[in-house]
Amino acid sequence: MQSQRVLVLFAHPAVQKSRVNRRLFAAAQSVPGVTTLDLYQEYPDFQIDVRSEQARLLEHDVIVFQHPFYWYSSPALLKEWQDLVLEYGFAYGRNGTRLRGKALLNAITTGGSEEAYARTGHNYFTMRELLTPFEQTARLCGMVYLPPFVVHGAIRMTHTAEVERAADDYARVLAGLRDGRVTTETAGSFDRLNADLTALGL
Ligand SMILES: Cc1cc2nc3c(=O)[nH]c(=O)nc-3n(C[C@H](O)[C@H](O)[C@H](O)COP(=O)(O)O)c2cc1C
Repeated sequence: MQSQRVLVLFAHPAVQKSRVNRRLFAAAQSVPGVTTLDLYQEYPDFQIDVRSEQARLLEHDVIVFQHPFYWYSSPALLKEWQDLVLEYGFAYGRNGTRLRGKALLNAITTGGSEEAYARTGHNYFTMRELLTPFEQTARLCGMVYLPPFVVHGAIRMTHTAEVERAADDYARVLAGLRDGRVTTETAGSFDRLNADLTALGL
């Protein structure tokens, strides 16, 4: 499998207070061949450079939205990024074919536990159900939506070892995406990419 150009777009409005995402982002930055961009650092005033973001997308094959789960979705700047960058005529609609064939996935930390994201839990819906707006956005753009990388219970991760383990898993998944080992064929049936790295051959 040919090497895939992976782009991690990171969105956290209070990165100085983050424990888990900050560590995950550092892990992403350490993976050779993976491009990383901290959106809140790049656009603190929300003035997104649409053309340069679109050009960046064209240079990559796999797009990762890395963010904490905020109100069952992403922080505001990543929504703004989608609203502006995924333009009609570029990402969808008439002649809007530029993202076709690329892959999209979310890399998320949640406050809630894995058990909470189920009919029997207090968030009722599963992560995959809650992420359907991202999945359908990918579909509309002709992109392949891959299962998310999810770190549950991030606010209770008091042990550094747990955070380090999550960061290590993230780096391995990103390297697998880069090397074409994590694809819809190998990982499409998983609820989340980091449920069982061995099963993914990582
Ligand atoms: C505004 C806001 C909304 C949040 N919404 C959710 C949510 O919908 N579901 C959830 O599980 N956690 C939610 N949380 C908890 C965050 O996801 C959690 O604090 C974060 O993933 C921890 O990662 P960090 O250490 O990188 O900040 C929310 C937190 C904030 C501040």
